[in-house]
Amino acid sequence: MKRPGLDWGAVSLRARRVLDALDWQALGEIYFHWGGEQFWRERLPNVITFGERLGRVLLPRLDRKGSSLWVGAGVAELPILLGEVLLHERAVVAANLRQRECDVLNAGLAAALPEVALRYVVGDARAVAEGETFDHLGCVSVFTDPETWPVLSDVAYGRVPPVQVDVERFVAEREQARTLAQGLFARLRRPGVITTSAEEVAWFLEQAAASGVAIEAGDDLVETAVVGDPVGFLAVG
Ligand SMILES: C[S@@+](CC[C@H](N)C(=O)[O-])C[C@H]1O[C@@H](n2cnc3c(N)ncnc32)[C@H](O)[C@@H]1O
Repeated sequence: MKRPGLDWGAVSLRARRVLDALDWQALGEIYFHWGGEQFWRERLPNVITFGERLGRVLLPRLDRKGSSLWVGAGVAELPILLGEVLLHERAVVAANLRQRECDVLNAGLAAALPEVALRYVVGDARAVAEGETFDHLGCVSVFTDPETWPVLSDVAYGRVPPVQVDVERFVAEREQARTLAQGLFARLRRPGVITTSAEEVAWFLEQAAASGVAIEAGDDLVETAVVGDPVGFLAVG
């Protein structure tokens, strides 16, 4: 049973309270390469709108009281994470490699919603919550992250002409990314759901083929608030 009186409107209201409590100067410095505080100021209204839109499509696909592992979760995922916890009583592990970003997000959550059991966890999503598996994996703009995978990101978004691709670096990044996809896929129970952007789907299709597991992409695609990549859902097993 969800908490009485709670619906997406109430979730978005709570998400707004957390966003208002965040240290935007600090977040602006973390994302300085994207234009910092100004970048966020322009996108903030979309975080709630797009987050709720994605959450409304995602939640019916997930079991109540199940569990999610979100990789590289940040500000954009906040409304969805809250929706999972508050409306579906799901356990959510939101992993991110950046200590400072997790600290800022957790400070905002603790200030605005101390009663809600949601915190970001610093660490590699393959290793956090050791020994646990999940019925849902959320992975948005991780394999296309220009900071972690500059060459893969350029290729995925068509930003580099083929003649200029640094092939050796491309192969090295692709192997690292494959290892990450393998590690993440191993944490997903069957049947399970993967939420990911259109540009990242192929990493998981490859893992499913290698393990002989059925995988099917749903028709729904939802635009995201920050990076703008459309996000969809894969049914696994
Ligand atoms: C481009 S950001 C995406 C942020 C957010 N998902 C969004 O769509 O706005 C990529 C994030 O993935 C995180 N990341 C990369 N590899 C990771 C891993 N193995 N485990 C957890 N987080 C990871 C990075 O720390 C970074 O915060």
